[in-house]
Amino acid sequence: MSIDVARDGAVAVVTIDRQDALNALNVETLTELRDRLRELAVDDEARVVVLTGAGEKAFVAGADIKYMSSLDAGQAKGWGALGHEAGRLLETMPKPTIAAVNGFALGGGCELALACDIRYASSRAKLGQPEINLGIVPGWGGTQRLARVCGIGIAKELIFTGRTVDAEEALRIGLVNAIADPVLEKALETAHELAAKSRLALSLAKELCNLTLGVEHAGGLESEAEQFGALFSSEDAKEGLTAFVEKRAPSFVGR
Ligand code: CAA
Repeated sequence: MSIDVARDGAVAVVTIDRQDALNALNVETLTELRDRLRELAVDDEARVVVLTGAGEKAFVAGADIKYMSSLDAGQAKGWGALGHEAGRLLETMPKPTIAAVNGFALGGGCELALACDIRYASSRAKLGQPEINLGIVPGWGGTQRLARVCGIGIAKELIFTGRTVDAEEALRIGLVNAIADPVLEKALETAHELAAKSRLALSLAKELCNLTLGVEHAGGLESEAEQFGALFSSEDAKEGLTAFVEKRAPSFVGR
């Protein structure tokens, strides 16, 4: 079982558990996550959803690079769409979603956290969008959501350089709401506080806050999904992804 859903009263805690790959998401895990989120979105017993990673080291170290290294452009488009679906569920389900970032939240991991309404980080968390170092771009909403959370200047720097930030910097740039140890405890405290509020008012508050994302947000996500897939026909994407799997530095040629 790679996605565990545990109930703590009205709070559902979703734990991604694929620790041998630092909770990186492959097709099975991501599909299961999407399916559990679909169920939770319409589950009246679950008033708040907390998302976290199993173990001490990682929230989610991203999309599974080994899996991606063999994808062609068409397959990569479908892969991106699956991640987008999970992100949209977290972003739009009519109840609060909270990311308890307990370690590495890189690439797709950072993107899932960005799709949540609130993010808390443990003091050892590391977040970032390192896709550029693989010859690709963020494909699960990062190019759109990072700017909306931190501002376009921060988003461009982090996405262009692929630099990872620690918890202190993440807090300073607004990427996380607070740092807490143990982070899950903090997330549960807020989750229970929210679960005691009016479900109707909370879901309306979320819907209204999401209006700031505007119609263009959906268009931006569509463009990202399209281009993320298309990039997989480039030599650089093949090289970047394969170099990671082969544990060597990539050599990019610009095509
Ligand atoms: N995909 C597949 N496997 C991964 C992985 C990933 N994203 N991240 C880590 N792993 C695996 C490693 O390959 C390793 O497996 P093996 O023992 O079989 O070699 C295992 O997890 C442990 O990882 P490390 O030995 O590398 O651990 P570390 O502590 O030395 O380094 C790390 C940790 C800095 C997070 C490093 O693992 C790393 O850089 N991972 C990749 C992070 C990344 O680039 N994520 C973005 C992916 S692209 C993406 O997500 C696209 C998108 O937008 C959808």
